[in-house]
Amino acid sequence: MAKLYINEKKKKGHINPEIYGHFSEHLGRCIYEGLYVKEDSGIPNKNGMRSDVVNALKEIRVPVLRWPGGCFADEYHWKDGIGPKQSRKKMINTHWGGVLEDNSFGTHEFFELCEQLGCKTYINGNVGSGTVQEMSEWVEYMTFDGVSPMADLRRANGHEKPWRVDYFGVGNENWGCGGNMTPEYYANLYRRYQTYVRHYDSAAPIKKICGGPNVDDVNWTEKVLETCYAKPAGGKGFHGFMDGLSLHYYVHPGGWDSKGSATEFDEKTWYLTLEKALYMEELIRMHSAIMDQFDPEKAIGLIVDEWGTWFDVEPGTNPGFLYQQSTMRDALVAAVTLNIFNRHCDRVKMACIAQMVNVLQSVILTEGDKMLLTPTWHVFHMYKGHQGAEALESFFGEELMTGTEETPVPALQESVSLKEDGTILATLANLSVSESYPVEIAFAELRPRQVKAAILTGQMNAYNTFEEPETVKGVPFQDVSVTETGVSFTIPACSVVSLEIS
Ligand code: AHR
Repeated sequence: MAKLYINEKKKKGHINPEIYGHFSEHLGRCIYEGLYVKEDSGIPNKNGMRSDVVNALKEIRVPVLRWPGGCFADEYHWKDGIGPKQSRKKMINTHWGGVLEDNSFGTHEFFELCEQLGCKTYINGNVGSGTVQEMSEWVEYMTFDGVSPMADLRRANGHEKPWRVDYFGVGNENWGCGGNMTPEYYANLYRRYQTYVRHYDSAAPIKKICGGPNVDDVNWTEKVLETCYAKPAGGKGFHGFMDGLSLHYYVHPGGWDSKGSATEFDEKTWYLTLEKALYMEELIRMHSAIMDQFDPEKAIGLIVDEWGTWFDVEPGTNPGFLYQQSTMRDALVAAVTLNIFNRHCDRVKMACIAQMVNVLQSVILTEGDKMLLTPTWHVFHMYKGHQGAEALESFFGEELMTGTEETPVPALQESVSLKEDGTILATLANLSVSESYPVEIAFAELRPRQVKAAILTGQMNAYNTFEEPETVKGVPFQDVSVTETGVSFTIPACSVVSLEIS
């Protein structure tokens, strides 16, 4: 019996909706085909954005979208993607698959997509191969309402009013594909570039995201904060030069050189994958400890703007397209990762799964006019109530372990929040491939009256195909009872459960 304690009296922080954010890059079939099919496509679309995909994304309430990369961001020159489409520059996407990039999806199209999704905007600027002037002009083009060369150019291109840029990333992975810089060098460049990310709309200042570490590179975090988060002695409320520091972490069970198949794996690899997913918590603790030294008030957020599984590409597909299937294993990775973010919502202010459609751990896959929802989509659907809720203290009385001798992992993992309507949302993951566990939930004082539950479960490598798109899907979970003191049920092996308790 696993006993889960929920202290509905103890709020642990606000779960910023942006924790449920997404990332879309000019990579493979994410933007082109996945999201954007052009106006004259036979696939139903609105202003070029495919309607089936947009509708499915609206269902999971996408809060924010990051674009145009990734590594692509530090090679992207935004002026190539504006103006009449027929005269936009055509080029080769040398970074991802060597295919033609016709720049038909650019700044205007990105804002159109975000408008259709009803989400916030996160633009990633080019530090690696772009100039300060180029970045500064992009911000002017997007956000300035007055008379200026860039605002006038935007108007000439058909958009009278400025858009709202909620977040602006100053470079991407500048320790790697974004310029192979040292932290000291990048930190100084960051200070310089971010100066020209002007707040033209003082009522809606742009939140600036500084390029953060690769996985566990704490030296990067420390050096960059030292230079970029300046705080006068005793000067409260001064936010230095950034609003957030990014962190990227991908889960690949065999390491970079042997990531393994997305669908063919054994139990050993299952547990190894989940152990690596759980490592996210360690990473957050590690980097937060350093951030706490510079920013004890937690004014700046840790922005995990790339996370998810990264396996070998689907056999027969372009290796540069990073197209992979998504199984129950991905669902469990998503469930435990989102639970971790919820529990660390005091520091993690935004996170973007990589990537939205057809690339890495996508929530949606497409093939021509067909579309399927991956198990990861279903997890986002079950968890969407956490967005904007207050995280609550929760813990298991005794930690049950599962896994193999070499890879023991906790069997059950959870996060809990209090929604605005007074409902408590508990999301639980059972990491065991074979064991189900009876669970009893107890509260500090609450005596629940009713529970509405959903479950996502299946064989560890079950996945949806275009022929059978509903093999894995979230369904109502009936076997849950309200007891005199709480809630009880048995959580099946290899499953994700959400409980809305009132
Ligand atoms: O998401 C794919 C790539 O992974 C991104 O372009 C890059 O930022 C990261 O290395």
